[in-house]
Amino acid sequence: MKALITAGGQGTRLRPITYTINKHLFPIANKPMLFHALEKVAKAGIKDIAININEGDKELPAVVGEGKQFGVKITYIEQKGGPLGLAHIIANAKKWIGREDLLFYLGDNIVAGDLKSLIDKFYREKLDCLLTLSRVRDPERFGVPAIKKGRITAVEEKPQKPKSSFAVTGIYLYRPAILEAVNNIKPSSRGEYEISDAHSYLIKKGYRVGYEEITGWWKDTGKPEDLLEGNGLILSALRQSEIPFKKLESGWRIEGAVEIGRGTKLKGEIVIRGPVVIGSNCLLEDACIDPYTSIGDGVVIKKTEISHSIICEGTQILECGVRIVDSLLGKNSVVKAEDATLPSGHKLVIGDNAQVEL
Ligand code: DAU
Repeated sequence: MKALITAGGQGTRLRPITYTINKHLFPIANKPMLFHALEKVAKAGIKDIAININEGDKELPAVVGEGKQFGVKITYIEQKGGPLGLAHIIANAKKWIGREDLLFYLGDNIVAGDLKSLIDKFYREKLDCLLTLSRVRDPERFGVPAIKKGRITAVEEKPQKPKSSFAVTGIYLYRPAILEAVNNIKPSSRGEYEISDAHSYLIKKGYRVGYEEITGWWKDTGKPEDLLEGNGLILSALRQSEIPFKKLESGWRIEGAVEIGRGTKLKGEIVIRGPVVIGSNCLLEDACIDPYTSIGDGVVIKKTEISHSIICEGTQILECGVRIVDSLLGKNSVVKAEDATLPSGHKLVIGDNAQVEL
């Protein structure tokens, strides 16, 4: 079995973050999001992996590399013609897929548990396609299956009136029949070749389409709040602390699972309540870092409390005097206390599509 992971598209719902970074490289628990997908696929024993990228994307291959660090071989496939939909990704990768079975994995999905049991079920039940489902509150955001007597009868993409409360998640297993399906569908009203239409095609043609419910957790990171939740979910799997200090000074309180990188310095009164990851070469002075927070390399935090947030590398948060919660701060940002000079007030330099709550 080969695996094809998606890392193209425009990430419009994640602006302004995606103006300067491909969303699949945004750090979740201090690792590019795509690394979590690659680790999972590698753990399932799949060694031959292709990553679908936008035409001309040089950044992602440079960051992810050839796969050695994951023990796999990575091929990059540019999506010719643009991000025309998930079924188009498969059609575009036809030559690379050949006659192999395929794990198709959406690189912006964060999933718990391992893939082995899904692969076992796929072969045990001799399926042509295995879909994974998860119960959601807002099925209209997803591909939604209609299920009758334990069988999927059709899949609708982002339906206004969902026929079930399940979302089809971004992990799919296929036999080569999927190539026939993606070549026999038309673009939807939003102009994309929908993977849901390919699934409905397989069902209509009598191919064996099974499903498995993901009962642990699964997150599609389409919106900024999903990134925070995904970050929290990955951090909650941290079990052990890794701290580069021989002893804790009086005034430091470090509780729960906390990882701190080399060269990071703590000064003054410090409270860190895990699960939290802090990168290398940071400076924390009189700071409180509360659960589900990831702090990238080289971040400086002084006299500030932070909770349930992602702070990217090089950012400085200085003497804010307010508690920062549920926040995403991109690289090299500065958030600091107001200068004492007049005029008083909050001074903002904010790029397009940013969101600030004062
Ligand atoms: O997350 C599960 C959902 O993913 C499913 O329930 C839907 O049926 C499926 O269509 C998909 O919906 P999304 O609207 O979330 O897909 P999105 O456009 O966010 O793209 C998913 C991944 O594929 C993401 O890694 C970006 C990448 N992509 C997307 C398109 C449309 C590409 O690489 N090329 C593309 O042309």
